[in-house]
Amino acid sequence: MNKDKTLRKDIRKDFPILSKKILKTKDLVYFDTAASAQKPQVVIDELNQFYKSHYSNVSRGVHTLSVESTLRYEEARKKVQNFINAKSENEIIFTKSATESINLVAQTFYDKYMSAGDEIILSLMEHHSNLIPWYFLRDKYGVIIKFANITESGEIDVNHFESLITPKTKIAALTHLSNVYGSKIDEKVSSICKKNNVAILLDGCQSAAHLRIDVQKLECDFFVFSGHKTYGPSGIGVLYGKEDLLNEMPPYQGGGGMIGEVTTDKVSYAELPAKYEAGTPPIAEAHGLGIAIDYMNNAGIENIINHEEELTKYAYEKISELDFVKIYGDGDNRNSIISFNIENIHSHEVSSFLDVEGIAVRAGHHCCQPLMKHLGVNSTSRLSFGMYNTIEEVDIFINALIKCKDFFIK
Ligand SMILES: Cc1ncc(COP(=O)(O)O)c(C=O)c1O
Repeated sequence: MNKDKTLRKDIRKDFPILSKKILKTKDLVYFDTAASAQKPQVVIDELNQFYKSHYSNVSRGVHTLSVESTLRYEEARKKVQNFINAKSENEIIFTKSATESINLVAQTFYDKYMSAGDEIILSLMEHHSNLIPWYFLRDKYGVIIKFANITESGEIDVNHFESLITPKTKIAALTHLSNVYGSKIDEKVSSICKKNNVAILLDGCQSAAHLRIDVQKLECDFFVFSGHKTYGPSGIGVLYGKEDLLNEMPPYQGGGGMIGEVTTDKVSYAELPAKYEAGTPPIAEAHGLGIAIDYMNNAGIENIINHEEELTKYAYEKISELDFVKIYGDGDNRNSIISFNIENIHSHEVSSFLDVEGIAVRAGHHCCQPLMKHLGVNSTSRLSFGMYNTIEEVDIFINALIKCKDFFIK
């Protein structure tokens, strides 16, 4: 492991896609890691090797390949457990995405602990993946959803959040790191939940690859993230849940793998974690995620964090110098994500212009329409960093932004 607090200088070489030329001429500047991270060669190679040499279905066979696959699948679970410091590997459920993980919690938590008239707290800056599963409960069962306000600086208003809690509040589901502002949640929110006996789900999609995650310190009941945003493959998601809750909640989907015994008139369920993993799981994808976690650990989580903090600070300062750009949220408490607009130029035009310069940024509502409404815009452009980005790329971006403004606004 690289422990000197800086990333290996040649880290970019691990990501083959970064040598791609955009429109045959421009070096790729990939500033869209928040949507999906690029994959290091070792993840690509290991997936290939897995399918070539070890692939089979898991948990159901005694033949060599089934054992080899199962071993890797369960090893991946152990790696995720260590990565987020869960107490037990039984607390790690593999799903197909963070979205599926949140749907799982919403439905099974409701079934066990809620009824009509109970309350859920979300915030105005949640991704649609952390809104719609809860809206389903409102529409189907009549639960009440309350929204915590957002401060000017782009954080949850903790006092307002606390004021929303009543004896009917059962769960709060909040983003750990906003995919629009890049702001981290205030740790006080978890303690407030704990004090009031409210469960808390943290959506870690944007934090898992960019912060040190310790679910025990975070005092959360549930934590979700997606493999594809953590340098692993798509098609794999993680649900962390406290073991007692996962034991008490009912299963999510029914099928093979999640049963104890089935007769014609009844079924008993498997122990954790199999209870929540009905059907053939994302086997190679879980293995790929495990390899991605090894890769991040070898690069050094603290090194990644330091590097991205430096990039974010530099980019924020440089963009702030451009008087034609509006940045959403403050510079402090911001990690790896900056959303902005250029006055009178639609974000899609900005991102198309930047694409011609070889720069990939995302434009749109970022699956946060309530937040866009709150900000009074339809969309923003967003740059987001991964461990492979550089200060030089930020400079290229700044020059391209100036060029973009000059092109559209004479
Ligand atoms: C904050 C946040 N939550 C949830 C999601 C959904 O992740 P996935 O599409 O991988 O399920 C995303 C993806 O962009 C996200 O940024």
